[in-house]
Amino acid sequence: MEVTTLFFYFVSFLFIVLFKSLIKSFLYPSNGKQLPLPPGSLGWPYIGETFQMYSQDPNLFFANKIKRYGSMFKSHILGCPCVMISSPEAAKFVLNKAQLFKPTFPASKERMLGKQAIFFHQGTYHANLRKLVLRTFMPDSIKSIVTNIESIAQTCLKSWDGNLITTYLEMKTFTFNVALLSIFGEDEILYREDLKRCYYTLEKGYNSMPINLPGTLFHKAMKARKELAQILEQIISTRRCKKQEYNDLLGSFMDEKAGLSDEQISDNIIGVIFAARDTTASVLTWILKYLGENPSVLEAVTEEQMSILKRKQESGEEMGLNWADTKNMPITSRVIQETLRVASILSFTFREATEDVEYQGYLIPKGWKVLPLFRNIHHSPENFKEPEKFDPSRFEVAPKPNTFMPFGNGSHACPGNELAKLEILVFVHHLTTKYRWSVVGEKNGIQYGPFALPQNGLPIKLYSKK
Ligand code: HEM
Repeated sequence: MEVTTLFFYFVSFLFIVLFKSLIKSFLYPSNGKQLPLPPGSLGWPYIGETFQMYSQDPNLFFANKIKRYGSMFKSHILGCPCVMISSPEAAKFVLNKAQLFKPTFPASKERMLGKQAIFFHQGTYHANLRKLVLRTFMPDSIKSIVTNIESIAQTCLKSWDGNLITTYLEMKTFTFNVALLSIFGEDEILYREDLKRCYYTLEKGYNSMPINLPGTLFHKAMKARKELAQILEQIISTRRCKKQEYNDLLGSFMDEKAGLSDEQISDNIIGVIFAARDTTASVLTWILKYLGENPSVLEAVTEEQMSILKRKQESGEEMGLNWADTKNMPITSRVIQETLRVASILSFTFREATEDVEYQGYLIPKGWKVLPLFRNIHHSPENFKEPEKFDPSRFEVAPKPNTFMPFGNGSHACPGNELAKLEILVFVHHLTTKYRWSVVGEKNGIQYGPFALPQNGLPIKLYSKK
């Protein structure tokens, strides 16, 4: 080999080494405390391990990493260095130290939902919004809407009778209507169709590439977002003229003491619809799947629900469900808990370290993303025996602390969890007492959109028992 060629190779090698270390020091500046980073691999600069994660089931990717590195490991996904955590204590630590770990979302999602929505904030503004949302969704407030939820469930079920339906799509209609009921009270029926048309266009763009050019899904979604805000403004101004008192979420947001602008109200209404609809619809879809696959559990749930009807008939009590009935459904409640655990529809969430944080001798550098892995916590044999088995009876005993967090934990934990459980209980009551169903086509497989779902949204044929 000639000397010049050798020299060329040497210089190229030096250049690559220097370039890599330059990128490394730019992306991961060294820490003054000299603490080690958690174990794991950061993969290639910028690309990181994105391809490894998305070329397989992300949950398998996490499970393999946990086996190799333990419950806390580093990675690099979608252009961001991150620390993944799968121990209940670490998840609790991250979710409860709001000043050290802030919520983080891609800018395009913020634009689409509205920058003022609750998810994106910390501090006083967030605390104020949370108080208003919790006020509307706490048990004492939602007690009064059981009958309305019941009538929405009955209408949906009647319209599916004898038809082949895609469970998830139909459940989205049910949960959308319940979300509107909790936001606008009985007025919701007036706005349902307009809001639905805009919201359905908006959601199509939610997971699209954020390219705002005419013709793209993102562009159509942003247009629908604008129209949605206009409809909401109209509703707000109509209410202002009426000077009436309302006990729904909009009433709570419009309370003068709340001090919210119209834009803040709109962003948070769109945000609550977003948080309430697909999550609950996805859980309901999984419930139908698990009940179908576990005939003895279905029988026990049906018996529990039939006994409520029987008791009402015998005592001459009004036939519709009330709040007390929904608090007396222990078997069905355990089915919901077990579904939330096995399906873990929100596999993980994101936070970002606001400063260098030391945790268990490791450094989580400022700016790094931190992902509490809910699904891995729910599927760890240390936390749940035979974790892959669907067994609602395991909830006869309370789970170990912080091992079960389907609604999150800490200052951003789900304020709608009581409403979600209520609407599921009401729905399952009418489903099991009046209908039977069978799954059509592919029975296994999971898809993510973005929530975990049975393959193809679970097509079923539903029949009235009569
Ligand atoms: C079974 C259905 C549901 C599940 C599994 C669920 C799960 C969650 C989880 C895990 C979080 C926390 C996310 C994080 O910490 O990053 C959350 C937040 C939230 N959820 Fe739910 N949710 C459900 C239904 C609902 C419903 C029905 C509503 C409204 C009526 C709702 C409203 C919200 C809101 C507003 C937040 C943001 C809270 C904040 O940032 O302070 N959710 N949800």
